[in-house]
Amino acid sequence: MAEYQTHPYDVLVIGAGGSGLRAAIEASAGGATVGLVTKSLLGKAHTVMAEGGIAAAMGNVDERDNWKVHFSDTMRGGQYVNNWRMAELHAKEAPDCVRELEAWGSVFDRTKEGRILQRNFGGHRYPRLVHVGDRTGLEMIRTLQDHGIHQGIEVHMECTMLTLLLDDGRVAGAFGYDRERGRFLLFPAKAVVLATGGIGRAYKITSNSWEYTGDGQSLAYHAGAALIDMEFVQFHPTGMVWPPSVQGILITEAVRGEGGILKNKEGRRFMFDDIPELYRNQTADNEEEGWRYTQGDRNARRPPELLTRDHVARCIMREVKAGRGSPHKGVFLDIAWIKEKLPNAPEHIKRKLPSMYHQFKQLADIDITKEPMEVGPTTHYMMGGIKVDAESQMSTVPGLFAAGECAAGLHGANRLGGNSLSDLLVFGKRAGHHAALFAKSQGSTRVDEQLVDRTANEALVPFERSAGEGPYQIQHELQEMMQHNVGIVRVEHEMELALREIESLKQRAAKVAVYGNREFNNGWHTALDLSNLLTVSEAITRAALERKESRGGHFRDDYHDKNPEYGTFNIMVKQGPDGAMQISRVPIPELPAELKQVIEENK
Ligand code: FUM
Repeated sequence: MAEYQTHPYDVLVIGAGGSGLRAAIEASAGGATVGLVTKSLLGKAHTVMAEGGIAAAMGNVDERDNWKVHFSDTMRGGQYVNNWRMAELHAKEAPDCVRELEAWGSVFDRTKEGRILQRNFGGHRYPRLVHVGDRTGLEMIRTLQDHGIHQGIEVHMECTMLTLLLDDGRVAGAFGYDRERGRFLLFPAKAVVLATGGIGRAYKITSNSWEYTGDGQSLAYHAGAALIDMEFVQFHPTGMVWPPSVQGILITEAVRGEGGILKNKEGRRFMFDDIPELYRNQTADNEEEGWRYTQGDRNARRPPELLTRDHVARCIMREVKAGRGSPHKGVFLDIAWIKEKLPNAPEHIKRKLPSMYHQFKQLADIDITKEPMEVGPTTHYMMGGIKVDAESQMSTVPGLFAAGECAAGLHGANRLGGNSLSDLLVFGKRAGHHAALFAKSQGSTRVDEQLVDRTANEALVPFERSAGEGPYQIQHELQEMMQHNVGIVRVEHEMELALREIESLKQRAAKVAVYGNREFNNGWHTALDLSNLLTVSEAITRAALERKESRGGHFRDDYHDKNPEYGTFNIMVKQGPDGAMQISRVPIPELPAELKQVIEENK
């Protein structure tokens, strides 16, 4: 019999980034007892990597903005495979969520008139991103943490969940361990909210830190929940490329929002070379107009650097492949050039982009007020994840909810920058509210002791292998392999190869050995993360094979074009009765006439 501590709650929230914190606050406000589990320390979450702002159509800088334009932008950015109801709720509810955050203590940048300032970002028609310099995610986490701490939420830091528990098909809690001491923990719960973030660690180059191993997606999948859109991985166009130790670290899109331009080694603004049809009438065709747009000229069109992330990332790859890249296989991002336009440019840059200034000074010895940065795409965000109901965020497993990056639907094939922070506020709140309602309406659940024992025994098996391969090499090979075979540009034979590699890595992972004891044993933690990484890698690859077209974040070298037929369904991944991964197509419900009209009006 496994030994463990037990912490029962009405609602268990797994993950303490923005969506987890927001869900926990709401569930607690709904009268539920709430436990909040985080793999890392409270406050350390990928939310802080959404630096440039929260997308919300407040209309403070341009009063033409409203929910309808935001909705249309989100649908166009997602290439119309979004869950349209989520996109509608998101666009309508984001402004109130921002005001609520302000009431809880967030100190946003201001317009001259004292209103919340909003900035330009890729794919958003009007200045829409509410921000705090380039530290918006950090401010959001700080605020939610400060607020949440007074709500009676019990926080369990440095804990990883190994399995979800089910009782007669309904969720009954989770079982895992604390990373510091290696002790097992049982959390019986009437409802569980997954808010574990993304999958970036399945790739070699990523803005994600070590926590992001697809835990929520994998836990849900193994509990029988459906995943959708797993082929849509977002490669943010601007990560650091040099020095190697910092490769992948994010350079906020706010640099481009504030006037930063992309150039190849010939000094040419290559983004003017290729403007997609969907955005042609919104995009400037000369440098002067692009600059005027960033300075707030309402009649100007946006510069091509502010096209959607999927497109900008591919244009950068094209330059590098054609031999027109920077010395370290990136391109140049230049904000220093604005000194030609603004007399106080260095102070302006330091005020608007303080973190970027320090990041480059400290990590690359570059003064961004004087020199360009070298940048290249980095795995940043997962559009796909747990399939949820738009209103409640409940997954296909009763009592299991998901919010934020580990849930899917809102962003379709490509997320617009800033829509992640508003996503986690809007849908974190909804998930917490509905989880508390669900918990109240249900009787107690029974814990499956056999599953608990089996999970504990399996977790400890790597200690019993006296000889064997360690987990790091397997993780490293998986990341290299996914980067190469299922990365920005995909092709059938490479993805078939990836599936075979994943199978062989699975077999090696099943025999992995770890040494030492259970107290803060990083080798053991890595060994346990492997199964999640392998599950999500397989799901990404199988879904990407199934989508024989290019759309948003999913680009196939063997099917360059968008195929309208593929715009009518989402690809769903589910565990079959034999334990094998199954792929199917789920039709997208037809857009109601009034939303069709909204899109039409905003074309
Ligand atoms: O570039 C950024 O600041 C990232 C924002 C986001 O991913 O939403």
